[in-house]
Amino acid sequence: MQTQPEFLKLRQHLEQYIVGQTRLIDRLLIAVLTGGHILLESAPGLAKTTAIKALAGGVHAGFQRIQFTPDLMPSDITGSDVFDPRTGDFRFVPGPLFHEIILADEINRAPPKVQSALLEAMEEHQITISGRSHPLPDLFIVMATQNPLEQAGTYPLPEAQLDRFLLHVTIDYPSAEEELQILDRDRNLHFGGDQNSIDTRLSPETVLLSRREVAEIHIQDSLKQYVVAIVNATRSPEKLNPDWQNLIAYGASPRATLALVRAASAHAYLQGREYVIPDDILEVAADVLRHRVICSYAAKAQQIGANEIISNILAALPIP
Ligand SMILES: Nc1ncnc2c1ncn2[C@@H]1O[C@H](COP(=O)(O)OP(=O)(O)OP(=O)(O)O)[C@@H](O)[C@H]1O
Ligand SMILES: [Mg+2]
Repeated sequence: MQTQPEFLKLRQHLEQYIVGQTRLIDRLLIAVLTGGHILLESAPGLAKTTAIKALAGGVHAGFQRIQFTPDLMPSDITGSDVFDPRTGDFRFVPGPLFHEIILADEINRAPPKVQSALLEAMEEHQITISGRSHPLPDLFIVMATQNPLEQAGTYPLPEAQLDRFLLHVTIDYPSAEEELQILDRDRNLHFGGDQNSIDTRLSPETVLLSRREVAEIHIQDSLKQYVVAIVNATRSPEKLNPDWQNLIAYGASPRATLALVRAASAHAYLQGREYVIPDDILEVAADVLRHRVICSYAAKAQQIGANEIISNILAALPIP
């Protein structure tokens, strides 16, 4: 756990830019600690972009923002083979995905073919163009933002793409008190200059070492069984309660089981603990499962969403 104090510094750095939103800040740190991709969702203007840019400012790594728009082409993000007249041959020119921290801003404003160009990158950390694979950096991580689907001009992300995100975090409006602080902070930035940059940015080596430390966090068998029970219950919740029959079209995949253990381990690490407790699992479960539980039409007709099903499951399962 030798890298843990560095992450507390990174948290303080984020708190200088973001008022409140402690869950959001926590989740960003968990993403860095696990190398998991994160999808942030909220109505416009709730600091999604600001938070990711602040995070990138605290880590010594290549950062690239890609604005997803309706006219974006897959090769605009992956790069492409370009003919080089000097050699008479094709040469690969890497696109903006070849960076460590990627801000995929407003990801659901690009059409599905661009979203699926991200699939290989996110899962396999490589991009294949004309049969040749190009590896992405070790630290590669996608931090995406989106507005809720009801908003005009959005294309829903396909299920396979959603499953590749470790966490799907929804962000709520700040309290009135926090909103006043946001106002004051904004004025300070304009009138007092920017005193927020940290002198010690996290090095890529520290991030990679911390990921190994998180992978070594202990989780006992009874808690592994608890995680499996939670994920299983998203596939057949009627086994817990017969009233929950037919609510689910698809439950969470084994990728969710792995993700839940990884996210819970990172949560334990941030608390300074070398082992997982049930609270770590309960804290992150909704953000790990929300985007992987696809409700049936019957559930939608009754206005029952994934959030409600997940919290019912967590309440019904005995905590070990
Ligand atoms: N909790 C907060 N702390 C500090 N600033 C905030 C907070 N919430 C909103 N703001 C401020 O509100 C403005 C909008 O934030 P930002 O652009 O990050 O929103 P967004 O969630 O990315 O919106 P969009 O969905 O429209 O892209 C910024 O000036 C940001 O600093
Ligand atoms: Mg934004």
